[in-house]
Amino acid sequence: MITESSHPELLRMTGIIKHFPGAKALDGVDLDIRAGEVHCLLGQNGAGKSTLIKVLAGAHQPDAGQISWRGETVRIGSTQAALKLQLAVE
Ligand SMILES: Nc1ncnc2c1ncn2[C@@H]1O[C@H](COP(=O)(O)OP(=O)(O)O)[C@@H](O)[C@H]1O
Ligand SMILES: [Mg+2]
Repeated sequence: MITESSHPELLRMTGIIKHFPGAKALDGVDLDIRAGEVHCLLGQNGAGKSTLIKVLAGAHQPDAGQISWRGETVRIGSTQAALKLQLAVE
């Protein structure tokens, strides 16, 4: 049986908001990922997929929201900071 303890939570993004001039790219996005899971991010052009991943990669700073990684709240202030956390985006 798969239990929560055998698949601990890796990533939790909560209430992520990101505005660009003239566009609200992310409007309170929540995403939870546990170890071993594979997720597919789907949405039409302009839905905010790339922006969400760029927030995770430290390439964009969210206007609001929280990110927890391996159980700790983190601020991913740069792409270098993401890599330091072992968050790699290809
Ligand atoms: N660097 C940027 N500057 C201004 N607007 C942007 C920028 N990046 C994305 N956007 C806008 O944010 C919205 C989401 O874009 P994006 O995350 O690229 O969507 P997707 O990857 O799902 O196609 C769109 O309206 C897009 O035009
Ligand atoms: Mg995209």
